[in-house]
Amino acid sequence: MECCSNTSTGASSPSSFSLSVTQSPEAINTPDTQKSVLFDEDIAADPLDIGENASPSFIMVVGGLGYIGSHTVLELMKADYNVLVIDDLSNSYESVLDRIKMLATEYCAIHNKPVPALHFQQLDYRSPLMRSILANYSSYRVCNKPAATSSARFPYSTLQRTDSGIDMEPEDTPEPMLQRQSRITGVIHFAAYKSVEESIRMPLKYYMNNVCGMVEFLGLLEEFGIKNFVFSSSATVYGEGANCGAPLREELCVHHPETFCDSDGVQLQAIPGVMGLTSPYGRSKFMCESILADIARSDASWSITALRYFNPVGCHESGLLGEDPRQKPSNLIPVIATVLTGTKPVLDIFGTDWNTPDGTAVRDFIHVVDLAQGHIAALAASAAGRVKAPFRTYNLGTGRGHTVREVHESLQSTSGRTIPVREVGRRAGDVGFCVAEVGRAESELAWKAQKTLKDCSVDVWNFTKGRCPVTDEMEY
Ligand SMILES: NC(=O)c1ccc[n+]([C@@H]2O[C@H](COP(=O)([O-])OP(=O)(O)OC[C@H]3O[C@@H](n4cnc5c(N)ncnc54)[C@H](O)[C@@H]3O)[C@@H](O)[C@H]2O)c1
Repeated sequence: MECCSNTSTGASSPSSFSLSVTQSPEAINTPDTQKSVLFDEDIAADPLDIGENASPSFIMVVGGLGYIGSHTVLELMKADYNVLVIDDLSNSYESVLDRIKMLATEYCAIHNKPVPALHFQQLDYRSPLMRSILANYSSYRVCNKPAATSSARFPYSTLQRTDSGIDMEPEDTPEPMLQRQSRITGVIHFAAYKSVEESIRMPLKYYMNNVCGMVEFLGLLEEFGIKNFVFSSSATVYGEGANCGAPLREELCVHHPETFCDSDGVQLQAIPGVMGLTSPYGRSKFMCESILADIARSDASWSITALRYFNPVGCHESGLLGEDPRQKPSNLIPVIATVLTGTKPVLDIFGTDWNTPDGTAVRDFIHVVDLAQGHIAALAASAAGRVKAPFRTYNLGTGRGHTVREVHESLQSTSGRTIPVREVGRRAGDVGFCVAEVGRAESELAWKAQKTLKDCSVDVWNFTKGRCPVTDEMEY
């Protein structure tokens, strides 16, 4: 395996890793091999890698050490993709990288195949140094510039020849030129701030990172000819459409007019826009989708998939990867985990008077490993030309809802511990029922969530139990 890490903003030297897990000798590359692939010299350099060498291609994962990103990087490596991770560690830890490498190495050893490369740059994706990184992942080859027609030639060349009386015929000899091709064949963009509550207090922070950052980044990708882009969107873009009480289909939030057939086969027209977005975070996701839709409409050579996640939960079955944010957690299961570890005394249940079987809100909880595999499916579908338009949205959910109480009970029974709750009023902007219609992802991405709520609880407990106070008895 080839592993490189370069932390900080460019001045630091990279650190390379040696793994403690058992590897086959051919799986381990030498430091020299690393050097030839990654910018060990100077991150700001723009080396011209001239030649016909078959350089390995990479998927760039921005925000790849966070909760969903880390699971996706592992799934990418399991599926034989080389990965370049960019993360500023604003909400994650570098130790996650070692865990991904360890799990990928174990998996590849079991399946008797080489471990793909994993490169890491600790960097804000808005940094000007991103240009150097993209340059480092470019190959250059000499090719022939198409012969110009006489009318397209520099006019004075003909004049000079006329004057000298040597050769007045336009010359059709192809001219050599350098062609740049990126080794980054796709980008998965997770890097964003994600706290609804913080976004209301600090909207500029959210718009700058989530929206402005993405716009600048897309300009850079376009410059390097990288036009295969997977965006982390959210069910939050449905705004008050989520109040419809039925599974949400993608056409409830579109950015350009779209014709579609409902479940009875009646043809309908979806009008762009959405009502009832309640936070700058939600608006930032909607804005990003709109921007991406406009870019794809202006240039159909882009392939952009916006994946609308429902409620990602769970973690890798090893207990080595999970949701471990630097920021205070606000999602249901990480909050339950903080009650289990004793950091928080009680779980607040917001609203017990919804029109649902037990009065608590219904959500579509999707296991993060299923979600991660949805990204691989999106890349594969795009490569196979199965994505129907240059910009396409997909719900990633299970299509099945569970109440907050069901989740609470599932984690209580799995952990064998009592998780105290406090019933409090509804939160502003919350909806009672938010479940995905998943037909589009199933048919076009050939992807379907496999894991259950029980799987989520088992894996979360596996990830959390080491940090819980020791008790002799089963309290629950
Ligand atoms: N977790 C959810 O419930 C959920 C639901 C819907 C959508 N999403 C979206 O999915 C994406 C990933 O979510 P997550 O739960 O893994 O969040 P996360 O905070 O765990 O991961 C995001 C990662 O991006 C990094 N990051 C943030 N800003 C950066 C920047 N400017 N430059 C480089 N790195 C940066 C953080 O350090 C972190 O590692 C986000 O875009 C989020 O909005 C998450």
